[in-house]
Amino acid sequence: MRILSVNTHQPDRKYTPHFSSCVKIYNPKRVTNLDIFAKNMVRTTSGPFRQDYDWDNLMRYIFLNFEGESKVNISSLACADGSEPLSYALYLYDKTPKSYYGKFHITASDIDSEMIKVAKSGRINLSNADFENIGKYIKNPHKYFNNPDKPVKITNNVDNERYSYKIASDVHSLIQFKKSDILKEVKKINPDEYYVLNIKNVFPYLKENYINEVLETMAKKLKSGSIFVYGKYDLLVPNFKTRLFNLGFFEPKQGECFVQKI
Ligand SMILES: C[S@@+](CC[C@H](N)C(=O)[O-])C[C@H]1O[C@@H](n2cnc3c(N)ncnc32)[C@H](O)[C@@H]1O
Repeated sequence: MRILSVNTHQPDRKYTPHFSSCVKIYNPKRVTNLDIFAKNMVRTTSGPFRQDYDWDNLMRYIFLNFEGESKVNISSLACADGSEPLSYALYLYDKTPKSYYGKFHITASDIDSEMIKVAKSGRINLSNADFENIGKYIKNPHKYFNNPDKPVKITNNVDNERYSYKIASDVHSLIQFKKSDILKEVKKINPDEYYVLNIKNVFPYLKENYINEVLETMAKKLKSGSIFVYGKYDLLVPNFKTRLFNLGFFEPKQGECFVQKI
């Protein structure tokens, strides 16, 4: 896997680290301004309620869109440490009755076995900033994170969380994790079911033909009305949104990082 330059897409870029898992092997010999920018932009370990969009806006749209449906798959591909599917699980558990959230089936996968091991462990590294961020959407975040202990080790992790926490098992058990790659999972989309498909902040690491195959396959497979959620970082891929529009998606809320299958 190869990351494109973080601020340009010129072929003669100087900054061309190779990643097996994003920041995980981010290890520059000499730290430049660009590296610092990259470090802020490119994080292995994700983060709950990552600020690619307003989660209340997204969730409200999802609830409205799938009102009356009995099953909706929330599928998080390239989920890293599981923060992203955890954000959905927390939001549903904290804010909606079981009768309601029972229809949302949350699955998550990542190509990196270390990340999946961490995601499955039921512990998560969280900083004070993470708690602040979770608190924007969840009234009492500490209710769901207990037993502070030393951080879970992640190879070459550049984040500086001082503690890991045990995630409330009622919330964590809402998510099914497995090791898998994006393309394999996209090919398995059931065209008869609805999806909120999340492939976020990973496209710039992928080769062009892989990106094409992922986008074309998901466009072909996703049932009309399904939602595709991406991240701000994915907009670094040239013409990312235009490609989605050409493949039959529209943007229900302008400027938010999600599109819907027509
Ligand atoms: C920057 S993290 C993004 C995490 C999360 N989606 C987010 O937005 O916070 C990128 C993740 O993509 C995973 N990844 C990279 N290529 C992949 C592929 N082809 N299939 C599945 N996961 C992949 C990496 O292992 C890493 O955990």
